[in-house]
Amino acid sequence: MAIADMQENNKWGFVNSLILHTRPVLVPAKALRFTHTFGLGGMSLVLFLMLISTGLLMIFVYEPSPERAYESILFMQQEMLFGRLIRGVHYWSANLLIAVAVLHMLRVFLTGAFHAPRRANWIIGLGLLFLIMVSGFTGYLLAWDQISYWAITICTEMLGYMPGIGQTLQRVILGGAEIGPATVINFYALHTIVVPLLLVALMTWHFWRVRLAGGVVVPRDTEENAQAGTDYVPYIPNLLLREIAVGLMLIAFVLVIAIFFEAPLGEPANPGLSPNPAKAPWYFVGLQELLLHFHPLFAVFIIPLVVVIAVVRVAYLRYDADLSGNWFLTPKGRRMAAVAATTALLLTPLWILLDEYAVGPVGWFSSTAPVISNGLLPCTALAVGVVAFYMLIRKQFNASKNETVQALFVLLVVGFTVLTVTGVWFRGAGMALVWPWQT
Ligand code: HEM
Repeated sequence: MAIADMQENNKWGFVNSLILHTRPVLVPAKALRFTHTFGLGGMSLVLFLMLISTGLLMIFVYEPSPERAYESILFMQQEMLFGRLIRGVHYWSANLLIAVAVLHMLRVFLTGAFHAPRRANWIIGLGLLFLIMVSGFTGYLLAWDQISYWAITICTEMLGYMPGIGQTLQRVILGGAEIGPATVINFYALHTIVVPLLLVALMTWHFWRVRLAGGVVVPRDTEENAQAGTDYVPYIPNLLLREIAVGLMLIAFVLVIAIFFEAPLGEPANPGLSPNPAKAPWYFVGLQELLLHFHPLFAVFIIPLVVVIAVVRVAYLRYDADLSGNWFLTPKGRRMAAVAATTALLLTPLWILLDEYAVGPVGWFSSTAPVISNGLLPCTALAVGVVAFYMLIRKQFNASKNETVQALFVLLVVGFTVLTVTGVWFRGAGMALVWPWQT
């Protein structure tokens, strides 16, 4: 439909033009299919709005001090009108937001939507993901119960392992040598003001860049896509109605979860009594699991640093062709991704078991210093394995660079997911390996 025809039929001129400042006038019919994006970016926005609205209600009751924090949460749960529900919605939205934003990032990657002109948005997205994690992390402590107190203790101890700046960073974040009143104030200010403002600014930029790139990446013509046609259709009502439907279903889902599963609240924080096991929040458990296998210098600094550099660089590599638009790029890309996922699903647990039962805490060569036997050597072995995988799979499938980089990405993501699942469900007292029903 031509834009002039649309304007002719436009009964909601003012509202429409307001909406169309943020969204494209026409969208490709092919991109309307739900499975193209699963609406994950929009869902992240809805979850963020739910966080802001429930957070705004909670600040009327919450008191940011070690003496009053836990009591004020109890008050919220027991005395405040709809307090239990509001806290539940806040808790579940926060956890879902992290999961949904990660899935959105995977969608963007696996449809190759991070190439120019969307490169900058990939980097902005990484910034958003970082801020969402900081938001979750700083909010975690505020309940001031045993779970949150010790989870944050574990995480800030991890920070301390960073060479050079680690100790200083730890002191700045904690506002002193250990978790105390200054930490609660720091986390409260970051959680309720600084991070939300940064998120709003970055999100606005993110959405503007989506608009600048002409909307989401368009599926390339395959036989299947050709049937859907290459027509453009007006954003209003086609995509708008779909977005509203997804948003409403998500809100209903979070409400139901919050009604049936109360946000956890353990015993009040007791700095003298560490629970066993003491685990980081689930989104940092993968890192905590790495700490069990590698020297801290490698687990919390070198490996994450290499991963962050790689994830940033991935958008700026020189690729063979522009294959963006379809899930897994090509049918070959899909097969390679399946091989990569299976390899990670088999090798990561094998590595964990080998390290746990055959090698032990001393390291691969007990005669050398721990930083070598537990850090340099296993990390070199890992790096050699990853490079070998890249070369082998590329040769075996006679694949393009795009498909091979994608396979490598899948290998690492599935590997890290296995680490996280192991840390959450298969670690018991003393962080020993156990079955989930024994934790
Ligand atoms: C609070 C977090 C985020 C919000 C609210 C958000 C929102 C959105 C929305 C609404 C879109 C339009 C298409 C869609 O729904 O998929 C989008 C596209 C995009 N996002 Fe995000 N996003 C977030 C995080 C991220 C992250 C973590 C990344 C990657 C590191 C990312 C990278 C991108 C890119 C490259 C596009 C363009 C994709 C395309 O054209 O197909 N975003 N985002």
